Amino acid sequence: MATVLISRRVPQIGIDLLAEAGLDVDLIDQDIALERDELLAQLKSHAYEAVLTTLSETVDAEFLEAAGKQLKIIANFAVGYNNIDIAACKARGVVVSNTPGVLSEATADQAFALLLACARRVLEGHRLLTSGTWQGWAPTQLLGLDVSGQTLGIIGMGRIGRELAKRARGFDMQLLYYNRSRDLEAEQSLGVSYESLETLLAKSDFISVHTPLNSETRHLLDEVQFKQMKATAIVINTARGAIIHEKALVRALKEKWIWGAGLDVFEFEPEINPELLNMPNVVLAPHLGSATEGTRNAMISLAVHAIIKVLQGETPDNLVF
Ligand code: GLV
Repeated sequence: MATVLISRRVPQIGIDLLAEAGLDVDLIDQDIALERDELLAQLKSHAYEAVLTTLSETVDAEFLEAAGKQLKIIANFAVGYNNIDIAACKARGVVVSNTPGVLSEATADQAFALLLACARRVLEGHRLLTSGTWQGWAPTQLLGLDVSGQTLGIIGMGRIGRELAKRARGFDMQLLYYNRSRDLEAEQSLGVSYESLETLLAKSDFISVHTPLNSETRHLLDEVQFKQMKATAIVINTARGAIIHEKALVRALKEKWIWGAGLDVFEFEPEINPELLNMPNVVLAPHLGSATEGTRNAMISLAVHAIIKVLQGETPDNLVF
């Protein structure tokens, strides 16, 4: 019987589905990722045919070597797969799956939640109340920024970018986008206008990042780009931390090149630039983009179905290559 390694605690339905399919499961039943040496030792301890990974595990040649030749699939419990060396997997004949589609709405919801919370100073208001110092309504207290009718620049018009555009239409926002290539269908159906990155940055009141992280998008937003933004701009990131040069962002916020930021992801997760922690004009979340019960259940179902299919010699739809 084939054995599957699951690198972290995941929703129970995934484990049940694997058991129903007659597979053995080794579950690392903890919320914190294993240290690298513990993970390698775990991989060596048994001849796993499938490993379910999360974005915290780096899957590279060393990982694959430790897992052994019988390994057939890495099922990544995420849509992003920047933690995986695809070339190394290809070289060893290991296929890789991800979880596209099922988390687009939840992630776009989170991006919009951060946008609203930052623009309307929701956390500052909350802190004013919990500090016990609020003395009542005041005409100029905690004034935020308008959202309705403003311009939203979406960087990356994939599934999540499109979902964000749908939400923003409900707020009568003007929608700009920047993407590797133009998406004429999205332009028609969602009313988004294509711009160069530079023009999008200069024109947008809100800028939200939705690209994968790769060599082209790493530090896509750096000092130069922050300087191109409006002083009233709010930057939202629910994609991958390293798409933004975090130090440059801190400088842009400190020196008021921009107004604020809503961040769900960080360049060196789980480390966060300490200066971000004490800034009033940022809203921070611990990588919760897809963190709803329904979405995480859908993600684990997709991931384990890929494992079951591959181990049965079939080809699932959600293979990365
Ligand atoms: C989460 O960050 C994902 O890529 O699904």
